[in-house]
Amino acid sequence: MSTTTTSTPKIFKQAQDFMPLKGTDYVELYVSNAKQAAHYFKTAFGFQSFAYAGLETGLRDKESYVLAQNKIRIVLSSPLRSGTLIGKHIDAHGDGVKVIALLVDDATYAYDTAMARGATSYFPPQVEEDKDGLVIRSGIHTYGEVVHIFVERKDYQGLFLPGYKAWESHYNPPTTGLNYVDHMVGNVQLGEMDKCVDFYKNVMGFAQILSFDDNDISTEYTALMSKVMSNGDGKIKFPINEPADGIKKSQVEEYLEFYEGAGVQHIALATNDIISTVTNLKSRGVEFLNIPSTYYDELEGRVGQIDEDIASLKDLGVLVDRDDDGYLLQIFTKTVNPRPTMFFEIIQRKGARSFGKGNFKALFEAIEREQEIRGTL
Ligand code: FE2
Repeated sequence: MSTTTTSTPKIFKQAQDFMPLKGTDYVELYVSNAKQAAHYFKTAFGFQSFAYAGLETGLRDKESYVLAQNKIRIVLSSPLRSGTLIGKHIDAHGDGVKVIALLVDDATYAYDTAMARGATSYFPPQVEEDKDGLVIRSGIHTYGEVVHIFVERKDYQGLFLPGYKAWESHYNPPTTGLNYVDHMVGNVQLGEMDKCVDFYKNVMGFAQILSFDDNDISTEYTALMSKVMSNGDGKIKFPINEPADGIKKSQVEEYLEFYEGAGVQHIALATNDIISTVTNLKSRGVEFLNIPSTYYDELEGRVGQIDEDIASLKDLGVLVDRDDDGYLLQIFTKTVNPRPTMFFEIIQRKGARSFGKGNFKALFEAIEREQEIRGTL
């Protein structure tokens, strides 16, 4: 085993917080039908109608629905005509994450610093204004076609961004207890992981807090390597995966093939009560990977005493792992797009700061059963 786990707050001190990131401001997905996708995220995941921009607000080529749940904001955008950048993105990748927007105090400083440290520009700082004040945004590229947009909104009192209006809907299913984005994972091509790690280290000032290689993450068939990058206060965490040689096609390779390049593999959303959240999500039709009941036979021996009732976890298929700081509970949805690309993780942390290494085998075997059905393995 060559895992390096440097635990506790020390780990984050290795990061140089020269551009303090205050959190994930929003995540924007380019999707082929934002209106219907928004309905899915409301109905299935309990997101709330929040803001809208499109024909009704004067846009001619793009429609966006913004959904919110506690601190999470998801923007779903679709093109309104052919030949747009959004349309080309969807043609290449299917539905997927385009923007991981990060909240900063000063979007100009963040951009200038990132550029001085070697970033590639997506767009220079721009001021957007309406009657509620002004927002400054700037953007840089990261892996694949994914971008980071720095958002400075301290002089803005409006709902979301200038140009958006409140999205009033008569259909408001209750929330499911999802609180914030815990981490977002990127899949990159073989040989690209370290370049991506260097980008987060050198340009963003992040520190590598964990790494896994194919000794840690492999099953009979598939293997991958992963490094986890974190900003200084540990609020922003980006694990980066690349495929490793396995007997058959790994889940990362399958992703790269169908996404036609690097991109966001999963978004982990945190809850304070995973049993209630997952029970709720299942009743609304969210599909999760199936975990064999034998996983739970060894659970108590592996993770020791936990607060939750193991029968309930087994019933739902929730996984548990322990590290030096505590334990975590997690579960993974099946992929949510026609292409087997993106999925969601639901996670509850009870002290643990890691990512569920003890569950990798059970998880990957569950993914392989899905890959077999798809004819990928
Ligand atoms: Fe994860």
